Amino acid sequence: MNRLQDKICVVTGAADGIGYAIASAMAAEGAHVWLSDIDDAKGKAAAERLNAGPGAATYHRCDVAMAGDVTALFDEVLAAHGRVDVLVNNAAIAIGGMPLHEMEDAQWDRLMSVNLTSVFRCCKAVLPAMIAQKSGSIINIASAQGHIGLDGWTAYAGAKGAIMAMTRQMSVEFGPSNVRVNSISPGTIDTPMNLQVVADLGEHLSKTWVKMHPIGRIGRAEEVAEAAVYLASDLAGFTTGIDLKVDGGLTNAPRYVPEFFQPDAK
Ligand SMILES: NC(=O)c1ccc[n+]([C@@H]2O[C@H](COP(=O)([O-])OP(=O)(O)OC[C@H]3O[C@@H](n4cnc5c(N)ncnc54)[C@H](O)[C@@H]3O)[C@@H](O)[C@H]2O)c1
Repeated sequence: MNRLQDKICVVTGAADGIGYAIASAMAAEGAHVWLSDIDDAKGKAAAERLNAGPGAATYHRCDVAMAGDVTALFDEVLAAHGRVDVLVNNAAIAIGGMPLHEMEDAQWDRLMSVNLTSVFRCCKAVLPAMIAQKSGSIINIASAQGHIGLDGWTAYAGAKGAIMAMTRQMSVEFGPSNVRVNSISPGTIDTPMNLQVVADLGEHLSKTWVKMHPIGRIGRAEEVAEAAVYLASDLAGFTTGIDLKVDGGLTNAPRYVPEFFQPDAK
């Protein structure tokens, strides 16, 4: 299909997980996708795979916590194409699983830098071009955890909630420039991030996660990617300021069992 034919798309944290699935789906729709990440080996291999398909892909290292890296990435994209049509703020890390008062200041600062300040930095870098070209789609990857409570994840949820508030605000601020800003809130998705959470906090979480989702399973990264393709495409030309939940009903269902701290409870 060609829903994103010749669009210039930038995806952060695109070497693996949801970011890679989004980059892959966008390339399959005819886009030129710039994959950025801190894992150069995986990022380069990912871009090579995508270049074998219908779209085009370029890997460019960018640590979204480093202002200089972000500036360099978008300078490069704009030098190559003179425009950028889609930005997906996807890169994030999971620091949590502890009560808020046991979180170190350094952990809080790191989380906010990678998960929240990065959104500000990347938006700041693309907005002048999008405003000048009078079009653009920014997609911020939020989380079901920006909607519901889960023991031990206050900081992560705070960053995701802030991203949704920024999304609404930016849709108003930049609507007159035809720059659309939306977010996606995935439920639990089968990605390396969650493999790491399970490794850190316990195997019991896998079963709990399945029970929490009314649809009876956790999600696939490709299912989040499909939502991103829609929001990036001209078919969503009148859609801005929304949070699109791709969560198997998680945020509508009071099924949570707090097993993070009490794995043997129940
Ligand atoms: N997996 C889930 O269940 C889930 C649920 C809700 C929201 N999300 C959100 O979806 C997004 C992707 O999550 P995922 O599960 O695919 O994560 P992941 O850990 O599987 O992949 C994240 C990618 O980001 C890269 N990355 C990490 N730090 C970076 C940095 N400083 N700069 C650039 N790249 C960096 C990693 O190298 C990796 O390639 C995140 O915003 C996450 O918060 C995930």
